[in-house]
Amino acid sequence: MNFKQMVGIEAAKYVQDDMIVGLGTGSTAYYMVEEVGRRVKEEGLKITGVTTSKATETQALELGIPLRSVDAVPYVDLTIDGADEIDENFQGIKGGGAALLFEKIVATYSKEVIWIVDQSKMVPTLGAFPLPVEVIPYGSQQIKHILTERGYQPTFRTTNDGEFLRTDSNNLILDLHLGTIAKPEQLATELTNMVGVVEHGLFLNMVNRVIVGGDSGVVTLENPKFL
Ligand code: 5RP
Repeated sequence: MNFKQMVGIEAAKYVQDDMIVGLGTGSTAYYMVEEVGRRVKEEGLKITGVTTSKATETQALELGIPLRSVDAVPYVDLTIDGADEIDENFQGIKGGGAALLFEKIVATYSKEVIWIVDQSKMVPTLGAFPLPVEVIPYGSQQIKHILTERGYQPTFRTTNDGEFLRTDSNNLILDLHLGTIAKPEQLATELTNMVGVVEHGLFLNMVNRVIVGGDSGVVTLENPKFL
């Protein structure tokens, strides 16, 4: 079993009957969704899923997990999702799979959030992973120009065919090549305040628990801010 599968299965243990569960996106969340689907089928687990992308929606429907839109539930009990980087203060970068907008919306309306990662995602400081910023197409070249002037080295994310990648909301992604992010909160505010920016991949003060898979097995870290 690989690290991603180990943490996916471990996280699915936190799902209980009658919960409304946010189902994350990516290659790690994939294993969690598979395990939740298995429990629905084999154990009769009764949940409502709220998906964070079209890809996860397709997977969950194939597994027979009942789904509702985030707008059709009063709240989400628990969201389980992957992450691209997590620093020592439990701050994260997400959006490597271009699903950051729905992921942040679902996490925001969740009572509890768990991230599942392999050990390579745990870092002292955020920023080696390019920071995704979702922008609407109209005016996006202007945003790129401004971000370039600020030294953030933005690049439009493209598909294998060289086309601009479109998110589930038909927006574009600019990846910022920052190296290190010394002040995540300041950068988050700066990006949020830019006209045309829909959302950015800094997920700050959002996670209650991180489950890490590595050479020594599965380790669960509690965010002291939420204890
Ligand atoms: C998608 C995400 C993913 O959760 C993140 O990119 C981690 O993906 P993976 O588990 O495949 O490494 O934020 O937008």
